[in-house]
Amino acid sequence: MSHEDRALAFACRMPKAELHVHIEGTLEPDLAFRLARRNGLTLPFADEQALHAAKAFTDLQSFLDLYYACAAVLRTEQDFADLMTAYLARARDDHVVHAEIFFDPQTHTARGVPIGTVIAGLDQGRRTAAREWGITTRLILCFLRHLSEDEALATWAEAQPFLDSIDGFGLDSSERDHPPRHFARVFAQARALGKPVVAHAGEEGPPDFITEALDILKVARIDHGVRAVEDDAVLARLVAERVPLTVCPLSNVRLCVYPTMREHALPRLLAAGARVTINSDDPAYFGGYLNDNIRAVQAAFGFDIETWARMGRDSLEASFAPAGDITRWVEELERLRRSACAA
Ligand code: ADE
Ligand code: ZN
Repeated sequence: MSHEDRALAFACRMPKAELHVHIEGTLEPDLAFRLARRNGLTLPFADEQALHAAKAFTDLQSFLDLYYACAAVLRTEQDFADLMTAYLARARDDHVVHAEIFFDPQTHTARGVPIGTVIAGLDQGRRTAAREWGITTRLILCFLRHLSEDEALATWAEAQPFLDSIDGFGLDSSERDHPPRHFARVFAQARALGKPVVAHAGEEGPPDFITEALDILKVARIDHGVRAVEDDAVLARLVAERVPLTVCPLSNVRLCVYPTMREHALPRLLAAGARVTINSDDPAYFGGYLNDNIRAVQAAFGFDIETWARMGRDSLEASFAPAGDITRWVEELERLRRSACAA
């Protein structure tokens, strides 16, 4: 086996955390059609093949239009439970030991699905995965930035009875023209609870949005953040402050942030010393789950075992899991790394 193949086998096998995955983005076509039938709804596609063909995206918005249309089949607590269980089964296959999962309540409440139904279903799936596979999870409520802050504050109020199930808050959806500073008030409230906050920034938006997310929203991690490479000062700050970036390589290529994987900023971020983690974002739409992202990155860049171990370790250490769990997972990763290097 070549060095590169050995490094790939190690990366796929190592214990890791997924820190950037939207549960609505894990809705595979077969489940989408099954849920549509179960709920007496019709998707605007004749069949799974037609839906698959619609996944030729030109930018973030072209994806979001399809993503929100497909999410319309999610109606009942059981639908959300099935969605979560299906994702976590795939995560287990990729040796994900811990997943921090985004959900977009506004997408569902706008269709009349109560936030409590969404959360109860997601919790059911998380409990199944914990019991069956020992995977730990965190649930992160994302506010949709194409909507107003007043709408985010209304969702914040609706979420109050369910705070035991919500481990953090995030910001997603259309980034262009929707800067982090618009959400200062709702994020201040979220932080006052003592829960961590994160935000998508520097995916399609400029490096300034990363600075705003840090200074105004006071995020613990930046989701994507790849455009930091366009501003030396922003990149230097991320490195100096050890801010984790939840990078999603297949997503960035499929949404045309980069024309091909070879042009992706990942090697530049690593060379600068940034804390980079690899994630799937919306795996049902972008061509794969976590290990598919690892395979695509390895095909483009041929990283060594040390580089993959670094990203695996950073994923675990940048998670919101208890310190004792992180230590145990990192030790397991180190054991695996040593035996992969010795082989
Ligand atoms: N919602 C789901 N996926 C997203 C992405 N990649 N960027 C912003 N919002 C999203
Ligand atoms: Zn995302």
